Amino acid sequence: MERTKQIETLEALLKQRKIDRDMETIDAIKEIPVSKYYDDDIFKKEMETAFSDYPLVAGVSQKVQEPGSYILSEWKDFPYVIVRGKDGVLRGFLNICRHRGTPLVDGSQECLGMMTCPYHGWTYELTGKLRGITKPYTFPDIDRDKYNLAELPVKEHNGLVWIHPKQDAEIDLPGFLGEELDEDLQHFNFGELVRHDEKIKTLNANWKLLLKTYLDRYHVPVLHKNSIAPYFQQGVIAHQLHPPHIRIAAGLTDLPKAEEEPSDNWHILKYAAVLYTIFPNTYLINHTDLVSINRFYPLAPDKTIWCHGMYHLKGRYQDEEGQQMLTQRFANIDAVFGHEDFGVAEKCQTTLRYGPSNHTIGLEEGLLAVFQQSVDEVTQ
Ligand code: FES
Ligand SMILES: [Fe+2]
Repeated sequence: MERTKQIETLEALLKQRKIDRDMETIDAIKEIPVSKYYDDDIFKKEMETAFSDYPLVAGVSQKVQEPGSYILSEWKDFPYVIVRGKDGVLRGFLNICRHRGTPLVDGSQECLGMMTCPYHGWTYELTGKLRGITKPYTFPDIDRDKYNLAELPVKEHNGLVWIHPKQDAEIDLPGFLGEELDEDLQHFNFGELVRHDEKIKTLNANWKLLLKTYLDRYHVPVLHKNSIAPYFQQGVIAHQLHPPHIRIAAGLTDLPKAEEEPSDNWHILKYAAVLYTIFPNTYLINHTDLVSINRFYPLAPDKTIWCHGMYHLKGRYQDEEGQQMLTQRFANIDAVFGHEDFGVAEKCQTTLRYGPSNHTIGLEEGLLAVFQQSVDEVTQ
C-alpha cells in the first residue's frame, strides 16, 4: 500500500478508535436470502460466471521460478497444471491427457522434465506439445498437432500467479483489480514470498458462507474471545470498496502507539492487519513479514475446498527458532479459521433449510451484503 494511503488509513483507524461505537459498513440493515447458500441453480450460475469469467489466484511466483517447477490445481472441477518451461516461459494447461483424459501430472514429482501420462505413457513437453506416443504404429496417420495439451491463459502479476478458466480469455489484471488495488498489492512484495506451509481441507459449507466469515468484525469479540480477539482493537476497521474486490484494515491492539511517533514513520502493518477479498474466491491477509492466502473452491452448494497457505518474506524466519515460530503461528491461524470461523459456518449450513429464509445483516456486518451484491451482479 502506498505511503499516503497507509497514513490516511491509520488516521481513519485512530479516529474510529476514539468513537465509542464500532465501525458501520452499511447504513441500513439488509437481508440475504439463505437460498443463496444451498440452491442448486444459484450454485450452477455461480460456477458459470464468477468461477468462469475471472482470473483466479493460483499461487505465488516464488514457487515457479525454476524450469520444471509447477503448480497443480487443488480443484477437481478445474484441473490445471502451471509449469515453467525450459525456455523460462510460464504456461498453464488443462491437466488432462489428450489420449483418453487421464490426469497427467499427479504432484508426486518435485520438478517436471516432461509430462508423462501414467495410463499408456504418452509424453508431453513442458510447452504442452505432444512428444511421444507409446507404440506409435498403433495410431497410423494421427495428426499429432491436434493432440497438444489444451493451453490456458496464465499471468504473473504482483508476485502472484493467475490463471483463467477460459482458454480464449485475456488476463488483464490492472483492469480487473483497478488501478488503486493493483498499486496496493504491488507494495506488499508478494514476489518476495516464500512458502512456509499449505493445508487443504474440504469443508461442509457453501463457499460464500466461508468467505464471508472474514468480512465482518461483529463476531470477533464473541467467537474469537479466547483466540485472536485480544490482538485487535474491537470494531476498529477501515474498509475500501474496489468492486468487486474489498480492502479492510483492522486495527491491532498496538494501534494507539502510532500516535507516539510521527506519521511519516508509520508502517501500516505495525498497527493494522490489511485484508483483501479478491473476487471471487481469494482472501489475502497481510501481517508484518507474513501473508496468509486463503482460496475457496466450490465442489457443491454445501461443500468447498479451502486452501490455506502461509508465506513469509524471503530471508526472514530462516533459522530454527524462526521456523518453529512460524509453525506455531500457522497452527494457531489454521485453528482459528478452521475450527472457530468455519466450524460455525458448517453448523449454519445445516440449519439453512429450517431457519429463517433470510439472514439479517447488521450495520457492522455490511461487507457481507456488499460481497453478496458483487456475486449477485455477475450471476444475474
Ligand atoms: S490416457 Fe494418457 S496415454 Fe492414454
Ligand atoms: Fe472470524
